[in-house]
Amino acid sequence: MGHARLLRLVLDTVPEPSLRAQTYKLAPTDQILDGDSVVRVGGLSLPTEATVVDAWPGTGLTSGTVYLRTGDSSRTDLPDESVDLIVTDPPYMDNVHYSELADFFHAWLRELAPFAHYPREQATTRSTHEVQSASPTQFQVAITRVWQECARVLKPDGLLAFTFHQARLSGWVALVQALAKAGLVVTAVQPVKGEMTTSVTKGGIEPSNLDAVVVCRKRASAVPSSLTQPHAAAEAGERRLTALQSAGVDVGAGDIRSVIRGHVLATYTASPEAVDVQSLAALADQLAAERVARLAGRNWAISTLNTTALVLQIRRHGSDPSGVDGPDRAPYPHDRATALAPVGTRHASGHHRPR
Ligand SMILES: C[S@@+](CC[C@H](N)C(=O)[O-])C[C@H]1O[C@@H](n2cnc3c(N)ncnc32)[C@H](O)[C@@H]1O
Repeated sequence: MGHARLLRLVLDTVPEPSLRAQTYKLAPTDQILDGDSVVRVGGLSLPTEATVVDAWPGTGLTSGTVYLRTGDSSRTDLPDESVDLIVTDPPYMDNVHYSELADFFHAWLRELAPFAHYPREQATTRSTHEVQSASPTQFQVAITRVWQECARVLKPDGLLAFTFHQARLSGWVALVQALAKAGLVVTAVQPVKGEMTTSVTKGGIEPSNLDAVVVCRKRASAVPSSLTQPHAAAEAGERRLTALQSAGVDVGAGDIRSVIRGHVLATYTASPEAVDVQSLAALADQLAAERVARLAGRNWAISTLNTTALVLQIRRHGSDPSGVDGPDRAPYPHDRATALAPVGTRHASGHHRPR
């Protein structure tokens, strides 16, 4: 086959994503459930054609204008109490080292300077305000700054919703302390199937298949919820996990541990001044372990037998896939519960995914 013919064939068969994107932008369609099938319909969403601005207009946004800005979420130029809903996807403590990964590309882009004002002079993309650290203390400091900015820009009855998953107890503790410090109260936690199932990092040494969607309000407008009392919160978490199991979702021990710990620790945000977070963390760990035994079932118990040796071996070699070893990494002894949890199931389940 000659080159011209081959080229023609390629051009004929490759879809044109940019044209499809443009068509979608002007006349968006949505997929909805119609009986048992999913159908695509138009007219539900507004066209997304807009003028983009990257600084908040003093007079507010006019119709047909979109404010789109990259940068540090702890420092925005949004006015106080101007936002109805914040939806975000923060780093899960140290599960993925975003800037180190970005540095690989930065090394090339520094030379190419692909756009005006590309920061060529910077040797790294790391930033002191980056929300990502193996140290729960540093993670807490950085994410507190972001939650405080969220609280500043949220309207009094506004909502903050974000996803979270964390194999280490200290990660959840740092998260709820940061939320409480920013004056935010968790009013709902909903575990959902994660978008990827291929991570080593996210699950630590336990399998991981779920993220938790965490919903918060400002303290003054917090609504009553089951997330004020630890045992009730654990029961609510268990109900949600069993509902997912009934729907055929694979729920691993790491998911159960993270979701139950998250539910129980969320109660801290309801009354931080009255709760000892260390004691609550210990209770969260205990309630999570009970649910792991109950929900993860017999397979989990069997797999425990052949994993302690592997964990010990990992420790002897100084490598720590769960991120729980080292003085800076394990301020909570309860993190060890994760370290001593089964390894074998991760390989059996094939759930390895990055976050
Ligand atoms: C879990 S990822 C979000 C991934 C995103 N949802 C996606 O699908 O591409 C978290 C992101 O937050 C960024 N990040 C970390 N600290 C930040 C900060 N202070 N302000 C804004 N973004 C930050 C990280 O670089 C990373 O890209």
